[in-house]
Amino acid sequence: MNSDNISISSKSPKKTKLAGKILGQLSHSGLLILLNGEMGSGKTTLVQGLLNGIGSKEIARSPTFIIIAQYPADINLFHVDLYRVTAEDSIYDIGLDDCISEDSICVIEWPSRYPALYDLPHIKIQIDKIENNKRLLKFSTNQKRFQSLLAKFSSKIKERI
Ligand SMILES: Nc1ncnc2c1ncn2[C@@H]1O[C@H](COP(=O)(O)OP(=O)(O)OP(=O)(O)O)[C@@H](O)[C@H]1O
Ligand SMILES: [Mg+2]
Repeated sequence: MNSDNISISSKSPKKTKLAGKILGQLSHSGLLILLNGEMGSGKTTLVQGLLNGIGSKEIARSPTFIIIAQYPADINLFHVDLYRVTAEDSIYDIGLDDCISEDSICVIEWPSRYPALYDLPHIKIQIDKIENNKRLLKFSTNQKRFQSLLAKFSSKIKERI
């Protein structure tokens, strides 16, 4: 079920933020988002839109040095960046287990550091850098209950982007 089922071309950071915002507006607690893409592809940029979409006025910044940032909004959002995590750091050491819950939304950059995350119910976003300002955003899920969310996202974003 994990096929890339929605692809969106973004020509600017603003468009990537808009994609995040629309997804945020449709999101509910219990959602886990695994966010892939090379350095500087726009993962944190998308999270900025997402945070906005769930009703926060805060600006998401890369949590690289602190690993986990928490944004209390209408729904509590955890923004996790696993870039600096190594195989010796367990999910429990860094407190990641507390972030993945039915009460919050959890977005994880560099999820491939812990491949077992892909076994959990999630929405996967892949951002590919095409050229300077152009990105391809791909959305998919391994979970039936998130498919309707992605279907709504797809129709809403096609009106706006
Ligand atoms: N279409 C686009 N979408 C998103 N970002 C874009 C786009 N075009 C250019 N950019 C620029 O690319 C950069 C993306 O940075 P960002 O911090 O979001 O990347 P990242 O994937 O989180 O990187 P890292 O892996 O280092 O955390 C920003 O400087 C942004 O302005
Ligand atoms: Mg980042």
